[in-house]
Amino acid sequence: MSTIALAPSAPSPADPALVRAIEQRTSVSLFAPDQPVAEAQIAEMVRLATRAPSAFNLQNWRFIAVRSAPAKARLRELAWNQPKVTEAAVVFIVVGAPPNPAEIADRLAPSIAAGFMPPHMPAAWSDFAQELYAQYPQTARDEAVRTATLGAANLMLAAQAMGLASGPMSGFEPDGVADAFGLAAAELPVLLVAVGHAAPGNWPQKPRRPVSDVLSFA
Ligand SMILES: Cc1cc2nc3c(=O)[nH]c(=O)nc-3n(C[C@H](O)[C@H](O)[C@H](O)COP(=O)(O)O)c2cc1C
Repeated sequence: MSTIALAPSAPSPADPALVRAIEQRTSVSLFAPDQPVAEAQIAEMVRLATRAPSAFNLQNWRFIAVRSAPAKARLRELAWNQPKVTEAAVVFIVVGAPPNPAEIADRLAPSIAAGFMPPHMPAAWSDFAQELYAQYPQTARDEAVRTATLGAANLMLAAQAMGLASGPMSGFEPDGVADAFGLAAAELPVLLVAVGHAAPGNWPQKPRRPVSDVLSFA
């Protein structure tokens, strides 16, 4: 693998609205505490979050929208006392679960009903997943983190597209959060994502390392 010197970036041919959401998203710390986010908006963000990909389309994620004052206060105690946990309108606990191959048939049934997936495929995927995760248990845990992380990324872009601000956090006590919010034994609280209306005073998106530092070709 080698890194290369890249030419200055050319104008992007990509969808400008999507590029704008990516470029304008920031990790917000200061939220306007008195501006709520409607339940319908919360549901829409989660609908868009779940358009993220997941292994075998298992969709092994869950989103707990923490929005009541007592629940947010409890979560803040478990999240290093970060003020945005109580100031943002809602804080999502993005939960990942290790993949359960027995659920593949159900999760793929709509793809068969839609007519593009051959009916024999879910059983084949399920057998393969069974073997894979039995042989590599760490992969199952990794998959929980990967799936939830991709869901969280979509969630933040969805918030951005809806004119809201977001802030991801891994600064929390996972066991405490799992306990306080009733996660199942195998479930992992992967990320917290605060969402709400930004208050004045937030930083812009921080400059990123040059592409030439992080891109290599093989
Ligand atoms: C996995 C992860 C964990 C993070 N944890 C926290 C956190 O606990 N508290 C916090 O204020 N910011 C947290 N951040 C936000 C980062 O500091 C922020 O994304 C980074 O500085 C880039 O900021 P920008 O996206 O606004 O440019 C976290 C981000 C990620 C991706």
